[in-house]
Order: sequence, then structure tokens, then C-alpha cells
Amino acid sequence: MRIGTPLAPGATRIMLLGAGELGKEVIIALQRLGVEVIAVDRYPDAPGHQVAHHARVIDMTDPAALRALVERERPQFVVPEIEAIATDALVEIEREGLAEVIPTARAARLTMNREGIRRLVAEELELPTSRYAFAESLNQLKQAIDGGIGYPCVVKPVMSSSGKGQSTVNAPEDAARAWDYAMSGGRVRQTRVIVEEMIRFDYEITQLTVRAVGESGSVETHFCEPIGHVQEKGDYVESWQPHPMSPLALERSRAIAKRVTDSLGGRGIFGVELFVKGDHVWFSEVSPRPHDTGMVTMVSQVQSEFELHARAVLGLPVSVAPRAPGASAVIYGGVEAKGVVYEGIDEALRVPQSEVRLFGKPEAHLRRRMGVALANGPDVGEARRRAKDAAAKVKPVAVA
Ligand SMILES: Nc1ncnc2c1ncn2[C@@H]1O[C@H](COP(=O)(O)OP(=O)(O)OP(=O)(O)O)[C@@H](O)[C@H]1O
Ligand SMILES: [Mg+2]
Repeated sequence: MRIGTPLAPGATRIMLLGAGELGKEVIIALQRLGVEVIAVDRYPDAPGHQVAHHARVIDMTDPAALRALVERERPQFVVPEIEAIATDALVEIEREGLAEVIPTARAARLTMNREGIRRLVAEELELPTSRYAFAESLNQLKQAIDGGIGYPCVVKPVMSSSGKGQSTVNAPEDAARAWDYAMSGGRVRQTRVIVEEMIRFDYEITQLTVRAVGESGSVETHFCEPIGHVQEKGDYVESWQPHPMSPLALERSRAIAKRVTDSLGGRGIFGVELFVKGDHVWFSEVSPRPHDTGMVTMVSQVQSEFELHARAVLGLPVSVAPRAPGASAVIYGGVEAKGVVYEGIDEALRVPQSEVRLFGKPEAHLRRRMGVALANGPDVGEARRRAKDAAAKVKPVAVA
């Protein structure tokens, strides 16, 4: 494996599609290896733009714009960081050998739509998931629920992330509200939803799974320690690693993760989301890229999920060795303002073994993720308390 000199003719060039907080950390990992990075996002001065060699702003859902950018920049690798991408353009780019898409264009296409990945996992791979159905009208939704999904259930736009447009239906009279909410919260104009049986899990985990080239030259699968997390309104607020699990539940989780990631193929990190009750495990969804709950790995593993991704993309060896029990807690905007100032960083960093990441987003919103506090501890309980404590001390404020 060879890496060139950035900005020189032999440079190893990687394009990140999406330059949010996760992309920013992947870029930093690539920068450390001397890779030339082109960061792309829909708005200027995105977190990843600020640490890349080149910053580009396009509408990544526009196939012509995406194609034109790849033709102009000529990266060896195209690394999607978000779901909302014109994935058909990625399929073409890969097929024509214009660039290698990470992990594969098919994985990006299947996971951008809940229907694609759910049908693959439940119907082709026959792995356990919640009962589900798809609907294109309020009437169809009601029929699906009454026809077998039952109450309570969860309604989500087929194309959405971070809990947008997602709500719970407890009784027939909730269906209309859930339908309207899904219609307003989808990423693109669409009228299709998935309705899922509500799984009464004991806990949920992210099983980070890395596909990387081993010494033999073929792709090998590595499993990180399970990450536990708490979600509010479909968005993660806290995560920790390792999450304690029974040996059987862990074995089943990894077996599911292996089947799913084998099927998606390619190289890179995957965040396999699973629900666990006793020794029962259900597949929920998968990100073929670093996962937001995996930010904890910046303190809990020797190589963070971002370094693992960077290495896997480049065909380099990886290690999923744990470092110490750790936790992450999200720092929200709390205000609607541009160019906020963060107060209390000193107090936050006085919490033992804590770290803070501020993403540098130009604009804050009440529930926008602006940063994350990280902490280690003798156990995950203490690490969680420290991370939450540190996060609570950081206060974004609007400047006049
Ligand atoms: N069928 C279900 N049963 C129980 N809980 C569910 C179900 N579907 C979703 N949830 C809860 O809502 C959370 C978010 O759901 P999901 O991951 O499908 O949405 P998302 O919009 O893709 O979120 P993200 O992008 O943050 O992963 C889950 O982590 C889980 O806590
Ligand atoms: Mg999810």
C-alpha cells in the first residue's frame, strides 16, 4: 500500500460526501496519513470543510452535479458520510471505474432507503427484524397496522434519518397524526412510510463492524465492543462502550452483523443497530459508515471508528482493541443563532478524564448537535456520569 504527497501529482485523493461532525473526524484521520481530502457538503464552512484540503458545496442529491464534481476532482475513493446522496450516480461512477465507492455503491443505495435494507435483511437474508409493512396513504397505513403490525408501532418516512418524521402509534386515532408527521419529516418529497412493530427491548446497541484487508490480502471482519446508547425522539443523546451483554446475545449480534456486512461488501466501518431483549436480538438498521453513537470510540478504543474507517478505506491493517471504558454525551445548540460562543469549556474539562469536541457548525438550533463531551472512567457507569456532567457545563450562547 502506497500513499502519495498531498497536493502533488501522486497524491492519494479521497472525496468525502458529507462533511458533518463524523466526516470531520474521518478527514482528520486521513490527514494524519497524508491523504489529500476533498470535503463536500450542501452548505459552506461545514465542520469537515474546515479541516480538508478542498471544500466544495453542491446539492449531493443532484446526480448531474455529483457526477460533474467527481469528474472534475478525480478522487480515487468516494466516501459517503450521509444517506441523502444521488446513489444512482454512485452506482454509475463505480461501474465505470471512475472512483471506488466506500464500502460499495450498492450499500449506499440500499441503506439510503429503509425499504431497500429492510427487504434485504428480513426477506433475503431472513434475519430477525420487527414485523413491518410499507404504506403510501393513510388508509394503507391503517390497514397495515390493523392487518398485522398491531399497536404500539413506529411510523417512519422511508427516507429520513436522526428520527425525523418518526412517531409512535399507540391506538387507531394516532394514525393520522403519525402519517402527517411522516409526510412533513421526510428528507425528500415522498409519500411512502414504513410501519414497524414496536420492539420492547431491554436495551439497544450499535455493533461497529469493520471490513478491512488482512495480511492474506483478503477482506476480514472485525467487531468492536458493543456500544450502548440512549435515543430521544429517534436521535442519540448518550452512548457508552462496552455495553455488558450475555454471551449468547453478543454472539447473535455479531452473527447478524457479519451476515449483513458480508452482503453489503466492500471495505470500511459499519454501524449495525440492534435491539436486545434477554438473549433475543433484532436487526434494526445499518450505516455503511461511522455511526454517531460511535463517537465514544474517540476515547474508548485505541483506534477510533474514524481511524478504523480511514485505514479500511486505504487497505491498511486495523485494530479494534479497546482502550478504557468510555462514554459520550451530546452538546445541543440550545439556541437559534449563528456564530455562537461556547462558555464553560474550562469547567467541562475539569471533569476527570474528560474531553470536548466542538464541531464548529456555523449555525446553532435548539436541538442541533453542536458538540460532544467524552469521558473515560473505571467503568461505564462512571464514564457516563462524567460525560453527561461535562456536556452539561458547555453552554452555547448567542452573541449580540
Ligand atoms: N421498531 C422499533 N421498536 C422499538 N424502538 C424503535 C423501533 N424503531 C425505532 N425505534 C427507536 O427509535 C430509534 C431511531 O430509529 P431509527 O434508527 O430507525 O431511526 P433513524 O431516523 O434512522 O435514526 P438515526 O439516523 O439516528 O439512526 C431507535 O434507535 C430506537 O430507539
Ligand atoms: Mg438509527
